[in-house]
Amino acid sequence: MQTLVEDILDDEAGSCTDDRRSEAPAASPCEHAVGDYGDARAILRDDTMRQAGFRADMIERFGDARFAPILFQHGERHRRQRAATARFFAPRVISNRYRASIEQEADLLIAELRNDGGGRLDQMSMRLAVSIAAEIVGLTKTDSQAMAARLDRFFATDVTSPANAAVDLFRFVQGQARLLRFFVADVRPAIRARRKVRQEDVISHLLDEGYSDRAILTECLTYAAAGMVTTREFITMAAWHLLDRPALADRFRDADEPERIAILEEILRLEPVVGTLRRRSENDSATVAIDIRAANGDSAAMGQCPHRLDPDRTRAERVGGPGLAFGDGPHRCPGASVAMLEAAIFLDRLLAVPGIALEKAPTMTWNPLVSGYELRGCVVRASA
Ligand code: HEM
Repeated sequence: MQTLVEDILDDEAGSCTDDRRSEAPAASPCEHAVGDYGDARAILRDDTMRQAGFRADMIERFGDARFAPILFQHGERHRRQRAATARFFAPRVISNRYRASIEQEADLLIAELRNDGGGRLDQMSMRLAVSIAAEIVGLTKTDSQAMAARLDRFFATDVTSPANAAVDLFRFVQGQARLLRFFVADVRPAIRARRKVRQEDVISHLLDEGYSDRAILTECLTYAAAGMVTTREFITMAAWHLLDRPALADRFRDADEPERIAILEEILRLEPVVGTLRRRSENDSATVAIDIRAANGDSAAMGQCPHRLDPDRTRAERVGGPGLAFGDGPHRCPGASVAMLEAAIFLDRLLAVPGIALEKAPTMTWNPLVSGYELRGCVVRASA
């Protein structure tokens, strides 16, 4: 456990600490990877480039491009969808609508934790992330705790590593069954309710745009992966860092919300949940891998000791707190402010629990699709 003072002394002695907990396995040698911050940002900002990550090839082969999830669209149609959905992420909407929901859900989770004397952090953060993203999307007709469990099972289906034909077939069938359960229990009731009365949410907007039930299900899964799963991993990672560093936890407790968010952005910079973004140019199938970990560790952008957790670091001009952890350019994450607010509010309450401590650090596995970490079994304990 390293204190801030020890960090500074290390630095004066000329040795930079490396505070990262998630380090990527070596990239595939067949892939052209970009790790320079400026080059990576320029590619992400180039709106002639196409999405080539998150199985974009499969979406292109099987889907109707007009109704593809927002992550896979490009050009004018993508711009229109972003403009139309921007209202769900406007700062005014976040503070008027979602802040109250985040506080309510965080209070509920912390009350349960106090009552039980402890709990699983990864499960708590998933419940929080699901309930808030569900409100944005419009998946509000079912209990968000049960939906979190259904989505967890769906995303736990391992379809990334090839096995043999029988195992692959079993996984495929299992994945389809879990998808069907999510559709029947959560998505279909929400669509039916919004066909009758539209609300201020993504599903209502998609109905106005003529999306089919199937296309809406795919967009809901995009939000689930982009908004729920990512936020769960990040909150668990941030809590792990804070609970292991008393000086940083004290600073977080004493800080106002903007400073708390700055600390969280620094943790996310160091530990990006999505470690690789991919793009290809319009007429070329070769993909470029953008190595977010390398770009976020580029000292030209992040200053000295780029792998040290330092909320006071001086970044180069026009380099934001989380670096490229929320992407950049046309596909930059629209949910960034919501995710940071969720983390700031929940962790503020968590660190206020008397005697809160990490009982069991999470086990970390690796998701090769996004070069991201998955943290499970993180147990915290509160004093009686
Ligand atoms: C810590 C949490 C989060 C992280 C690390 C994260 C990360 C990202 C990244 C890196 C992208 C860009 C993908 C690319 O350029 O190819 C993205 C896009 C996206 N994110 Fe997030 N995200 C988070 C939370 C959220 C939340 C809370 C929501 C909504 C409820 C959300 C919704 C989306 C959507 C819809 C896109 C696609 C945007 C587009 O393609 O135009 N994300 N996210």
